[in-house]
Amino acid sequence: MKKLFIISAILFLAACGTAVKLSSAVQTDVDRGSKVFPGLTLAELNQGKTAYEENCGKCHGLIAPTKFSEDKWRKEVPPMAKKAKVNTATETLILKYVVTMSSATNK
Ligand code: HEC
Repeated sequence: MKKLFIISAILFLAACGTAVKLSSAVQTDVDRGSKVFPGLTLAELNQGKTAYEENCGKCHGLIAPTKFSEDKWRKEVPPMAKKAKVNTATETLILKYVVTMSSATNK
């Protein structure tokens, strides 16, 4: 029994170390993010997450939104959106997701 626990703990830690696990947005994120993006919705955050996952992990792997400040994301997303060849609407969704989640304290 104890052995099983140790094995599970090791597997769990190994899994955490390998990939960035992106948080799904919840209502508290919408509340916080709508101070920066008035009218922000949960649907937009979820679309932004999907767009980020689909377009931004190919060259350098996904970067956890909490790794950088809002200012840094605002500076990086436009040139990166060009690199990723996404349209303006998608770029905006990605920006809303990473900026909102950059200040998440519960993740
Ligand atoms: C075609 C390859 C490519 C794609 C696609 C790409 N990136 Fe990048 N990204 C890079 C390269 C190369 C760098 C480092 C040099 C630079 O800043 O141009 C970088 C750097 C960054 C940095 C700065 C990291 C640091 O440590 O300062 C961020 C943030 C970033 N990318 C976010 C994104 C986001 C968000 C997307 C999706 C919209 C994206 N990237 C898509 C190639 C890419």
